[in-house]
Amino acid sequence: MLECRNVDAGYGKVQILHGLDFVVPTGGLSAILGSNGSGKSTAMKTVAGLVKPTSGEILLDGHRIDELGAHSMAAEGLSLVPQGKEVLAGLSVEENILVGAYHRRKDRHGVAEDLEMVYQEFPRLRTRRKAAAGLLSGGERQMLSLGRALMARPRMLLLDEPSAALAPKVVGEISDIIRKLRGRGLTMLLVEQNVSMALELADEIHILREGRFAYSRKNGPDVDIEELREFYLGKGRS
Ligand SMILES: Nc1ncnc2c1ncn2[C@@H]1O[C@H](COP(=O)(O)OP(=O)(O)OP(=O)(O)O)[C@@H](O)[C@H]1O
Ligand SMILES: [Mg+2]
Repeated sequence: MLECRNVDAGYGKVQILHGLDFVVPTGGLSAILGSNGSGKSTAMKTVAGLVKPTSGEILLDGHRIDELGAHSMAAEGLSLVPQGKEVLAGLSVEENILVGAYHRRKDRHGVAEDLEMVYQEFPRLRTRRKAAAGLLSGGERQMLSLGRALMARPRMLLLDEPSAALAPKVVGEISDIIRKLRGRGLTMLLVEQNVSMALELADEIHILREGRFAYSRKNGPDVDIEELREFYLGKGRS
């Protein structure tokens, strides 16, 4: 379970997040929606340990993680799929995937097993395993990014706008993979601008506006989509 308790964070003297407070139960999937610049990636980076909170606490399964750096966080079982589908363009697809297992590279047997699992999940990565990652399409790069994150054997996956700039068919494929991972009990925090994708996948939806949650509801048949869209567009009460 991830708990963010009243977290403030920002860059230098500029405060971006104000009192972020939410829980992602073990095996649950929460989505944070918000427009450009609302603070979604900052929230992700703060959970991942790349930005240090100026106040508040972040706990994973009851342990404080906000005082650890990003490397210790990976060891704690958090894996971030950053925004922008970044890959190491000059390295092969397989080398990129293996970067995700760097901290446990001595576990050769386990790493080989997980590499096989990634290839089963993403057959296109197997086909292209020797190709330079820079030659992949946007969808393939997103899958590579996800595969690399899975190599860390995370307890919790942080996904920053996995659907951005992808064709609808590829967005569908990414959603299917997220649903499958969820079915295996992986806890996930999803940042998106794609409202339909969040509604399809999440148990809980938060809308971030200027670094504060303007809306937080359990997802389900009672969610009023018009109301949600109004909050998202900044017209709703906060
Ligand atoms: N490294 C940084 N240093 C200073 N300010 C930053 C930095 N990164 C982001 N910001 C600022 O923080 C605010 C929130 O940015 P953030 O990237 O968290 O938004 P976002 O919701 O992820 O946006 P997008 O949908 O475009 O990815 C913006 O005003 C942005 O300019
Ligand atoms: Mg962002």
